[in-house]
Amino acid sequence: MSETTHGNTMKKTALVTGANKGIGYEIAAGLARSGFRVGVGARDPGRREEAVDKLRAEGLDVFGVPLDVTDDESVAAAAVLLEEEGGLDVLVNNAAITGGMPQEPSRVSAAQVLQVVDTNVVGVIRVTNAMLPMLRRAASPRVVNVSSTVGSLTLQTAQDEAVGPISAAYSPSKTYLNAITVQYAKELAGAGVLVNAGCPGYVATDLNGHRGTRTPEQGAAVFLELATLPDDGPTGTFRDESGVQPW
Ligand SMILES: NC(=O)c1ccc[n+]([C@@H]2O[C@H](COP(=O)([O-])OP(=O)(O)OC[C@H]3O[C@@H](n4cnc5c(N)ncnc54)[C@H](OP(=O)(O)O)[C@@H]3O)[C@@H](O)[C@H]2O)c1
Repeated sequence: MSETTHGNTMKKTALVTGANKGIGYEIAAGLARSGFRVGVGARDPGRREEAVDKLRAEGLDVFGVPLDVTDDESVAAAAVLLEEEGGLDVLVNNAAITGGMPQEPSRVSAAQVLQVVDTNVVGVIRVTNAMLPMLRRAASPRVVNVSSTVGSLTLQTAQDEAVGPISAAYSPSKTYLNAITVQYAKELAGAGVLVNAGCPGYVATDLNGHRGTRTPEQGAAVFLELATLPDDGPTGTFRDESGVQPW
């Protein structure tokens, strides 16, 4: 039995990284509304507390998890906290940065690329590996990676509808994240851990100066689905609201 016990109720626990704002905040809210106890992962104490207070004001069962995905010690401490909270059923790797634009291949700096990959890819590996012992003990463990169709090589090279800006850091980091998703899915196939990636669509958040056309709540929807897949659900897939997307 892996569902965590709090008081007299059996509840599943989820952790969302970068949950203090944007799509991550709405994923945390959506999971809590559907009955999860949710760890609100956030690196800044003030922003974390503000998000937790706002979610609790809605009557949601959430707790703050100090978490900088680029910091090994922070990630290890977050895993200890989750263990103390009773374990983990669902991990949503949402935290990411663009690394700043422009980032055409000919102009990008090595530091820019390293920072983006450290956050968007290595951060996911750090957090996933730290949480895996708990996920392996869960009854229906799920890992959900928040990716983007700008990481799809197929869509980027489509003749008629190429997606995304020319980018040597952010877009390739999502391509790498998609590749990592497949590798985790393959390794964990026998362990019952379903690992999938999704794209929220073009969502108005700080990440894109609020130029997106969808709301964070709309963007969160596909991840709520992936977080609550049935045990015979897919693993190693990449999808958005309209269905499976090409790698
Ligand atoms: N918006 C879109 O149109 C769109 C499209 C496709 C995919 N996505 C993906 O959706 C996810 C969420 O993005 P968003 O649009 O909601 O952006 P956002 O509003 O900028 O939120 C990003 C979140 O990640 C956190 N974060 C960044 N670096 C971190 C670190 N080192 N450790 C912990 N947390 C960190 C941020 O925390 P701070 O507040 O401390 O900076 C923030 O909570 C990302 O994976 C993004 O790539 C977004």
